[in-house]
Amino acid sequence: MSEFDSNSKPEDYVNIDQVWMQKAIELAKLGQYSTRPNPNVGCVIVKDGQWVGEGFHPRAGQPHAEVFAMRQAGESAKGATAYVTLEPCAHYGRTPPCAKGLVEAGVSKVVIACADPNPLVAGKGVDILRQAGIEVETGVCEQQAAQLNQGFLKAMATGVPYVRLKVASSLDGRTAMASGESKWITGAESRQDVQHWRAISGAVITGIDTILADDPQLNVRSLGDIDIATIVQPKRVILDRQGRLPLNAQILSAPETVMVMGPFRQELAKLGVVQLEVQSLKDLLTTLKDFQIYDVLVEAGATLSTAFLQEKLVDELISYVAPTFLGQSARAMFNAEFETMAQQLRFKLQDVHQFGDDIRLRLIPSQESV
Ligand SMILES: NC(=O)c1ccc[n+]([C@@H]2O[C@H](COP(=O)([O-])OP(=O)(O)OC[C@H]3O[C@@H](n4cnc5c(N)ncnc54)[C@H](OP(=O)(O)O)[C@@H]3O)[C@@H](O)[C@H]2O)c1
Repeated sequence: MSEFDSNSKPEDYVNIDQVWMQKAIELAKLGQYSTRPNPNVGCVIVKDGQWVGEGFHPRAGQPHAEVFAMRQAGESAKGATAYVTLEPCAHYGRTPPCAKGLVEAGVSKVVIACADPNPLVAGKGVDILRQAGIEVETGVCEQQAAQLNQGFLKAMATGVPYVRLKVASSLDGRTAMASGESKWITGAESRQDVQHWRAISGAVITGIDTILADDPQLNVRSLGDIDIATIVQPKRVILDRQGRLPLNAQILSAPETVMVMGPFRQELAKLGVVQLEVQSLKDLLTTLKDFQIYDVLVEAGATLSTAFLQEKLVDELISYVAPTFLGQSARAMFNAEFETMAQQLRFKLQDVHQFGDDIRLRLIPSQESV
């Protein structure tokens, strides 16, 4: 559409920077199951309105998105514009700094979606580019690009991982029968969706009573067309203050990816299980950040889920609701006792999706929550 089309509405105008940044965001998503603990980053290089190179960061230790894009662009990078979803790095890690690479490649402009709060970068990438006379624009499609790295961005800025709490419940808000039986409340489509949330998490946290009731593995077993061998599996973290984890639990079939918060047990140490000496959920989260775990998924029963909610440690609630009633003796999703409306924990709805006969609500704590 022409900019001077008299019938056009303001929302019809397309900002070309946003179009290329969308492409970079789509590229970044290709690494969403494999880059951990590194962030997802995509890059597109454009010259005279034409695409000349693209890349994404596939895995920690492998080249960054900008490197792949610059290799593809070659000489065409000179005088081109690079669109990057995260501020180019400024430090020598396992790979040399991308900001310097862009300067050497001769790009004339860099458009960035999100600043990198990592103290090793934090503005230094932009400084290197500007000092070399490169025009830099920031904040293009920032909110969308930030969704790609919610955990990384929060953990770098606050020292605490991003916490998603997943709950599967009936229409009457029940998550298990009184006996502990809970297979299955939701349908196969919802359970398949949970695999995605596990796969983007550095750790899945559960309570010992869920292990004792369900004997789950809490790993990623299927992700559509994606080869599971290419993904980084989440650590599985069990809260077990009384040392009740049975050595024949299924979760211990891959003990090197299990972490336990509880009293030290020699038999777990022999298996290679990491044992965490922490006393509170808050300390657990900061300790997990030290292990470069930036996104956690809590998949626990009502006891532990309620503790996370009451301590206001949840950034996002992922609630699957199945069209069924389980009755009042079944276990409630949230077991705190409130007496006044002022005590309620209120959320804001982010989106709703249907999975088979179930719905999934994504919610974030409301600022008005008291
Ligand atoms: N529908 C769903 O989405 C869903 C998901 C998972 C599980 N479930 C069901 O939920 C049931 C189990 O729920 P549950 O409430 O009995 O158990 P749970 O929440 O999975 O685990 C509770 C245990 O976690 C530990 N814990 C709790 N709060 C803690 C805190 N603040 N700090 C440290 N450790 C803490 C405690 O063990 P210690 O005192 O021994 O340390 C507690 O006994 C099962 O029937 C399971 O099938 C349902």
